[in-house]
Amino acid sequence: MDQERKSFDSCIHKLVSWRRKKRIFIIMLLVFLMIAIFGVQFYHIKQKGHLSPELSQKEDDTFMQSIKVKFIEAAKLNSQEHLRKNNRLINIKDIEKLKKIDQPSHTEKNVEAFETNQQLGIPRVLTIFRNPYIPKHRIVHFDLKGAPPTIIYLKKIMSLIKNVGATGILLEYEDMFPYTGILAPIAAKNAYTFDQVIEILQYAQELQLEVIPLIQTFGHMEFALKHRIFSGSREVPGSPQALCPNRNSSLDLIRELVNQILHVHSNIHYLHIGCDEVFEMGECEICRTEIRENLFLKHVHNVVNIVRASNSKIKVIIWDDMLRHIAVQNLQAANIGDQVEPMVWVYAEDIYRFVQPPIWEKYTNVFNTAWTASAFKGAFGEAMYIPNARRHLENNLRWLEVMATQSDSFKQGLRGIVLTGWQRYDHFAILCELLPAAVPSLILNLLATTNGYFNATFKDQFLNSLSCPYPNERKPRPFLNLEGDPNMWEKLARCMFPGHAFFRLMYRLHNLEQEARDYVDSTTRQKGWLTAYNVKYNYSLPLRVDELTQDLPRVYHGLVSLARNAAESLKDIVDNYTISEWIEQRVYPYMIELENIQNASIALKKVKFWPARPLPIFKDLQKHGIAIG
Ligand SMILES: *[C@@H]1O[C@H](CO)[C@@H](O)[C@H](O)[C@H]1NC(C)=O
Ligand SMILES: *[C@@H]1O[C@H](CO)[C@@H](O)[C@H](O)[C@H]1NC(C)=O
Ligand SMILES: *[C@@H]1O[C@H](CO)[C@@H](O)[C@H](O)[C@H]1NC(C)=O
Ligand SMILES: *[C@@H]1O[C@H](CO)[C@@H](O)[C@H](O)[C@H]1NC(C)=O
Ligand SMILES: *[C@@H]1O[C@H](CO)[C@@H](O)[C@H](O)[C@H]1NC(C)=O
Repeated sequence: MDQERKSFDSCIHKLVSWRRKKRIFIIMLLVFLMIAIFGVQFYHIKQKGHLSPELSQKEDDTFMQSIKVKFIEAAKLNSQEHLRKNNRLINIKDIEKLKKIDQPSHTEKNVEAFETNQQLGIPRVLTIFRNPYIPKHRIVHFDLKGAPPTIIYLKKIMSLIKNVGATGILLEYEDMFPYTGILAPIAAKNAYTFDQVIEILQYAQELQLEVIPLIQTFGHMEFALKHRIFSGSREVPGSPQALCPNRNSSLDLIRELVNQILHVHSNIHYLHIGCDEVFEMGECEICRTEIRENLFLKHVHNVVNIVRASNSKIKVIIWDDMLRHIAVQNLQAANIGDQVEPMVWVYAEDIYRFVQPPIWEKYTNVFNTAWTASAFKGAFGEAMYIPNARRHLENNLRWLEVMATQSDSFKQGLRGIVLTGWQRYDHFAILCELLPAAVPSLILNLLATTNGYFNATFKDQFLNSLSCPYPNERKPRPFLNLEGDPNMWEKLARCMFPGHAFFRLMYRLHNLEQEARDYVDSTTRQKGWLTAYNVKYNYSLPLRVDELTQDLPRVYHGLVSLARNAAESLKDIVDNYTISEWIEQRVYPYMIELENIQNASIALKKVKFWPARPLPIFKDLQKHGIAIG
C-alpha cells in the first residue's frame, strides 16, 4: 500500500516536472524562432549591401568556385544518415510548432494525421496541413540519353502518368534524336527514327500532354563535342564537356540542333536549352579575356536569338544553377528576364540549402515567372539501380512547400514543376536507375505534386495505378512503409504495372550483390588461404581451398540466373544494347570475380609438392624505395 502510494507520488512528480520541462521547451522554441527570423532578415540586408555593379576578377573566380563547391556539397548531402538525423530533429519541432500555431480544434486532427503519415513513413512537411499548393504544370522528364525505352513502353508510361495528373513531358533526347545532314554523326546508332519520334509526339497530343524538348546548348555537350568533326567548338581542346561560346562554328552547331528539333516539334510552347553545369568557361584563348558571367549571359542571349529566329513565340527555359551566383544588376543589365524562364533544380531534400532565400529574391526581381525541378530517380548516386522513394517524396513535398511560399513573389507565379528522372549523370556515365525500376517512385511523387500532399487518402489511386491486387485482409495493414521499405519492394511485390518484373528483380539484385560482395571479400581478404598472396605463390592448403569454394557455384549460378531474368524482364522495355550494357555493368563484374576465384582455386589445388619456406623476397617493393634483401 505504502509502496504504491510512493510510486504514485513519484509519478505525479514526474508528470509535473515533465509539464514544466515542456513549458520551458516551448519558450526556448519561441526564442529560437525569433532569432531565426531575425537572422534571415539580417542576411537579406547584408546581401543587399554587398552587391556591387561591377564584377571584379576575384568575384569572377568565386563564381566558378561556388559552382564547384555546390557539387561537393551535393555529394556530402547524399550521406543519408546525416539527413535522417536532421529530419528527426526538425520533425519533432514541427509537431511542437503545429500544436502552438494551429487552432486547438485542428490540432488534434493534425496530430492524428501526422501519426497516420508516420506509420506510412511519409516525410513530414508542415504546409501539408494548411493550404496544399498544387503546381499548375506537373511535367515528367524522360531522359533518353544512350538508352532509349521502346516506343511501346514509353507510351504505356505516358498514359499511366496522364492518369495520375501529369500535364506534360520534358523530352531530353540527347543522342537519341534522328539528327540528319551535318549532324548525322550525333545520332546514336540506336536512336529513334523519325516515325518513332512522331509516334511519341502524336500520342502526347492525344493524351493532351504538353511536350517540351530539351537540347543542351552550352555545358553537357559531350554527345556532340565528343566527335572529331565538332571538336573545334570545344572550350578546352581535350574535353568535350562545354562549348566555346565565342566561335562561329559553335553557333552554327547550335543553330542546326535547334532547327532540326523545331522542325519536328512544330507546335511547342516551350523549349528547354539546358545551360546547366558549364564546368569549363572562359578558358580558351578567345574567351579568356572576358568575364565568365558575361560569357554566360551573352551565350544564352545568342541561343535565344537563334530560337526566336525560327519561332518567335516559343518561350525558352534554362536550368538555373549558373544564375545562382550572378549579381542581380548583371542579370538585369543583360535583360535575361525577357529572354528565358529559369528552371530551379534541387534534388536533395533541403531545397533552401542550395537555393537560399536571397537567391529567390533575386529571381523574383529579374524574372516574371520560373519553373522548379524535383526528381523521382537518378539523384542520389550515379550507380544506383532502384530509387529511394522516400527521399524523393521528401524532395517533392519540400518543393511544394517552397513553391507555396515563393509563388506569390513572381509577377506571374510559378509555371510548374518538372519531376526529373535521370538515366545517366552525364553522357559518359554508367546507367543509373532504369525507368521500370522507378515507376512506383514516379507515381508516388506525381500523386503528391498533383494533389499538393500525400497521405492515406490516395491509397486506392496509388495501388490501382500500379495495378496492385487489392489487399484482402481482415486487419488492414498500412499500404506503405517508406521508413522501413523505402524502395517499396515489400509493399508493391505483387503489383503488375508496366515493368513490374524488372522492379521486383532489383530486390534479388540487392540481395545477390551483397552476397557476392561478402563472399569475395571473405574469401580473398578475411580468410587466409585464397588471398592474392596465396594465388601468386601457388601456396595454399587444398583442403582449405575446397572449403572456401564450396559456396561459390551457388552464388555464381544465382548471378547467371539473375542476368538471364534481367534480359527477359527488360525485353520490350528497352533495346538489346541497353539490356546488354545494364547486365555488363551491374551483374557481370561479380561473375568475373567469382570466375577468377574459381580458376585460382583450380590452379592452387593442382600443386602436389610445395617449396620450403621462405618464399621469395618481394622485389616490387624497391619501386617504392623499400629496399629489402
Ligand atoms: C565569325 O564570323 C564573322 C563574320 O563572318 C567574322 O567577322 C568573325 O571574325 C568570326 N569570328 C571568329 C571567332 O572566327
Ligand atoms: C490527408 O490530408 C488531407 C489534407 O490535409 C486531409 O484533409 C485528409 O483528411 C487526410 N487524410 C488522411 C487519411 O489522413
Ligand atoms: C534482341 O535480342 C533478342 C534475343 O536474341 C532477339 O530475339 C531480338 O530480335 C533482338 N531485338 C532486336 C531489336 O534486335
Ligand atoms: C577461367 O578459366 C576458364 C577455363 O580455362 C576460362 O575459360 C575463363 O576465361 C577463366 N576465367 C577468367 C575470369 O579468367
Ligand atoms: C601453380 O601450379 C600449377 C600446377 O603446378 C600450375 O599449373 C600453375 O601454372 C601455377 N600457377 C602459378 C600462378 O604459378
